[in-house]
Amino acid sequence: MARKRLIHVGVGVFGRRWCSEFLSANVADGTVEVVAVVDTDPQALALGARLLGLPESKCYTDPAKAFAEVEADFCTVVVPPNHHETVIDHAIAAGVDILCEKPIADTMEGSVRIARKVREAGRKMAVTMSHRFDQDKTTLRSVVRSGKLGKVNLVSCRYMADLRKHMAWGALFRHTMADPLLIEGAVHHLDLVADFAGAPCKTLFASTWKPDWAEYAGDTDGIVSMVFENGVRGVYEGSSSAAVGMNDWTREYVRVECEEGTAILSNREVEIFQRQDLVRQRSREGAGQKLQLITQPKWLNTWLIEKFCAWLDGGPAMETEVSVNLQSTALIFAAIESQRTGAAIDVQDYISRSA
Ligand SMILES: NC(=O)c1ccc[n+]([C@@H]2O[C@H](COP(=O)([O-])OP(=O)(O)OC[C@H]3O[C@@H](n4cnc5c(N)ncnc54)[C@H](O)[C@@H]3O)[C@@H](O)[C@H]2O)c1
Repeated sequence: MARKRLIHVGVGVFGRRWCSEFLSANVADGTVEVVAVVDTDPQALALGARLLGLPESKCYTDPAKAFAEVEADFCTVVVPPNHHETVIDHAIAAGVDILCEKPIADTMEGSVRIARKVREAGRKMAVTMSHRFDQDKTTLRSVVRSGKLGKVNLVSCRYMADLRKHMAWGALFRHTMADPLLIEGAVHHLDLVADFAGAPCKTLFASTWKPDWAEYAGDTDGIVSMVFENGVRGVYEGSSSAAVGMNDWTREYVRVECEEGTAILSNREVEIFQRQDLVRQRSREGAGQKLQLITQPKWLNTWLIEKFCAWLDGGPAMETEVSVNLQSTALIFAAIESQRTGAAIDVQDYISRSA
């Protein structure tokens, strides 16, 4: 695979991790070369330059200038969701492919618009649904997809984190935005539920709220129920203001109920239960057969960067290609619409109406 040149945009709280971990691992093994780093904040930019080992001549505070001056194969976009589109516009104008942080944008209309612009320009864009590509979720997926537990019937996901204090959830924007749970949290969790369900979502009903103790402007708590086109049901409960983080970030609970068994992921442990020919078989969580987690060199965004480069080289399209990822984006914005209207939402109709 030929080494790909990339422009990295955004060195905030998560962008720092991109520089020190996700990008650096791919620089080290020759998958990519970072040819420029961009951040509108000079201090953040200086940190990015240091972490990536780039000279001042490769650092830009103006994304337009960076894309106009530097030749690259793709860019990595790690700025807040309401700024994704501006950066993507620059990338499209420069003929550069895009690997962007989730969600595609901060509105459904913006997300559909971005997918359309990318399609019309003939560019490649994928979204980093990092948690779906973590070691524990990948292990759970491999057992569910193996078919050993039979047909999937119900997927349940729980996220409970104690992030109730001001600034506890990393960046300021999560404490000031509307719908932080859905846009910054459930964007991963509903994506996981849909991935295990294995079909687009048909209808969805959501209720979100903010407990008195949550130091946020928007709703930190929510429940969502989903019916998928293949008949699988999904249920999600999420809270960023829990008293105790029983299923904090990267330690989420996912239970997949199948015809011939159940698979449970909780706090990074996967266990399975298989139906036997017994009368009224019973068991309890913790008593199942523990699975060893799959091992491989790259996980999360480190793996996604490598997958993206393989796609640019003519390999398989990314599972999170922007037009496909619109389905995951639609889950969060349809959930917001459901909370606003108090009604169940026809998700596919909602996507068509947003175009
Ligand atoms: N996949 C995950 O697990 C995960 C985790 C955290 C954040 N994220 C995503 O990463 C993105 C960034 O989040 P964050 O927490 O780092 O935000 P942040 O606010 O900490 O940092 C954003 C950075 O982008 C810069 N910026 C803003 N607009 C810009 C523009 N137009 N051009 C160049 N730079 C610009 C800011 O100066 C800042 O340094 C978001 O989309 C977020 O959802 C993903």
